[in-house]
Amino acid sequence: MRKQIAAANWKMNLTYPQAENLLTDILNANIDLKENQQAVFAVPSPYLIMTNEVLATKDNYFTAAQNCYNKKSGAFTGEISAEILHSIDIEYCVIGHSERREYFGENNKMLAEKIDLCLEYDITPIFCCGEPLSIREANAQNSYVETQLKESLFHLAADQLEKIVIAYEPIWAIGTGKTATTAQAQEMHAYLRSVLAKQYGKNVADLISILYGGSVKAGNAKELFSCADVDGGLVGGASLIAADFIQIIQSLK
Ligand code: PGA
Repeated sequence: MRKQIAAANWKMNLTYPQAENLLTDILNANIDLKENQQAVFAVPSPYLIMTNEVLATKDNYFTAAQNCYNKKSGAFTGEISAEILHSIDIEYCVIGHSERREYFGENNKMLAEKIDLCLEYDITPIFCCGEPLSIREANAQNSYVETQLKESLFHLAADQLEKIVIAYEPIWAIGTGKTATTAQAQEMHAYLRSVLAKQYGKNVADLISILYGGSVKAGNAKELFSCADVDGGLVGGASLIAADFIQIIQSLK
């Protein structure tokens, strides 16, 4: 069965004590995850080690970095490599979030390099894709997102692709309170899976978890996650409130 994942993306929020309290509150809810369910926390870099230590007490809870660099090592002041993340036992890394693409000029080719480095160091990339509003309004979202997948993922062998998690995040729904309807989410997720199937075969495509991101809330998570091809969510704003994220984790199928 495909992994069902509730992934928190804290972005550049929370002080260290606030982060500790939020994790404690969530763990105190004592949610027992099923074998196929995971909760993942993408936290600011200085909190990675603490988060990993705290989550180690619970099964199926994981820490994620929010980004890594597309070079192996060297004179790149301020950057963090996949090797560094691996050396502190980080198992997930968000790659190609739309905020990275927009504010830091990350393109599909650089993201392909980041994906390769993550895989080299046993880190599961959570690869983000999704279209801006203008593309959605022109009804060109399918080919736009297909190109993102092709240019960043399709150089991988099937056994490498199987290690990737995809997050579909329509940019017009991120932080806007405007969620894609369940029909829109399911339609795109099914399309992405068909694109993967065309390239790698149905068996491989059926193994890939595809998360939905963009204004996932406590109140809409259950409905979104119930879609056949939606395997959980990547959650920004609502992951900063313990009660809300607890409910989102409990909404996993
Ligand atoms: P949001 O962010 O839930 O606040 O819309 C999602 C994301 O950017 O990953």
